[in-house]
Amino acid sequence: MKYAFARASGRPATRLRSRSALISAVVGLSLVATSVVVASSASAATTLGASAAERGRYFGAAVAANKLSDSTYVGILNREFNSVTAENEMKIDALEPQQGRFTYTNADRIVNHALSRGWKVRGHTLAWHSQQPEWMRNMSGTALRNAMLNHVTQVATYYRGKIDSWDVVNEAFDDGNSGARRDSNLQRTGNDWIEAAFRAARAADPGAKLCYNDYNTDNWTWAKTQAVYRMVQDFKQRGVPIDCVGFQSHFNAQSAYNSNYRTTLSSFAALGVDVQITELDIEGSGTQQADTYRRVVQDCLAVPRCNGITVWGIRDSDSWRSYGTPLLFDNNGNKKQAYNATLEALNAGGTTPPPTTAPPPTTAPPPTTAPPPPTTAPPPTTTPPPGGSGCTASVASVDQWNGGFVAQIRVTAGSSSLNGWAVTIGLPSGSALTNTWNANPSGTSGNVTFRNVSYNGSVGAGATAEFGFQGTGTAPSGSFACSGS
Ligand code: G3I
Repeated sequence: MKYAFARASGRPATRLRSRSALISAVVGLSLVATSVVVASSASAATTLGASAAERGRYFGAAVAANKLSDSTYVGILNREFNSVTAENEMKIDALEPQQGRFTYTNADRIVNHALSRGWKVRGHTLAWHSQQPEWMRNMSGTALRNAMLNHVTQVATYYRGKIDSWDVVNEAFDDGNSGARRDSNLQRTGNDWIEAAFRAARAADPGAKLCYNDYNTDNWTWAKTQAVYRMVQDFKQRGVPIDCVGFQSHFNAQSAYNSNYRTTLSSFAALGVDVQITELDIEGSGTQQADTYRRVVQDCLAVPRCNGITVWGIRDSDSWRSYGTPLLFDNNGNKKQAYNATLEALNAGGTTPPPTTAPPPTTAPPPTTAPPPPTTAPPPTTTPPPGGSGCTASVASVDQWNGGFVAQIRVTAGSSSLNGWAVTIGLPSGSALTNTWNANPSGTSGNVTFRNVSYNGSVGAGATAEFGFQGTGTAPSGSFACSGS
């Protein structure tokens, strides 16, 4: 396997409650963090969870219920982590072994262990082509669609109020270059099965963040990453309730960490979703492994909407890839070099927590009391968009390395909505495009005009669309000519 805020009507009540608690916690944490820094820079946090919390994030681990009686395992878990994911116990075959008969005992051991200590729980996973019980594997069509939706509804309702983030759908895209959905019994029930699962999950637990989770989506240039990006973009445009994207981040030689990982995280975040690193493990050893862990942590801390990191196991011997020694603790539970690098990177990450990460309200907030009219017009803080059917275009992010780059360009509509747009960018001399997504380029060098593709030409007044490209040489910078129609 190549695994390589809402105002009163904006969010349902449960979500508001958890949101206020989150604000209090974040304010509290920042006060704690500030006093820690003021007291002494030498008093850096000494555990992964504490350090992540000072940065408004969590640090979690995948946990197996049958290891909760292993004292070395539980000792590390309780000391270092403040979030858990059940490694297998919340999968469909574990929770609904016979149709309509739900068994929550093992999952509850993990959930209760976490909640009693004030940790977060990531729910994994409501709908997946794999780990289906026999009865479900043999189903198809409407019967399967209804069974899947019933599973989502029953499980999300049972755990309502207890789950921070649900992996609603796991691994629904093909590997390779097709950018297609993975063929599965669920996919064969109709392409809308993913959004149906998200809608059922939202109805059952309005307070949980709802994530799409996948592997081999860490490298921004990979077709699978781009395909998932387009799905999330489409969901956001059509109001399908999605709040977050999980990046499994199982790194090894076939699916290696790439320096564009930060671009991946920030590009998804720019769609208006949180991003989470959900199953991190990095095959290797020593400095190479430690350096990669350090970079992953730095990348998450650099993206405000990166909520937290979960490692897929505790000791190397607990890993599904134990031969690759991919985790932070050795078989005896000792801290590895990778652990030290991870904690250092967390502690170096500053003490400013990210902004609260609520998705925008799905319905318009009620009118609040009108503020008094300004006596003088305040100066604009940003350049206003052009009038008419114009648009502006500028660089949203760039990842430049020696010899190549990835650039993400943001198109902003003026005071009228657009049906289409074209952005002309003068590529620096010697630079050439190698790959473009979410736009059609007119050429590969010199002045290149990028026109919208079918799904992102319509941009509301003042709204934005994004496209990107990879190239050799030097990335363009600044703003570019944009025309709308
Ligand atoms: O517990 C039984 C044992 O009683 C039995 O004798 C043995 C025989 O095969 O199987 C044991 O169960 C295994 C289980 O792990 C616990 O070790 C299953 O066979 C095995 O399939 C299962 O593998 C899990 C795998 O998901 C299943 O797809 C791994 O532990 C788990 O780490 C892995 O996690 C996945 C994420 O859910 C999704 N992303 C990829 C990640 C890694 O594959």
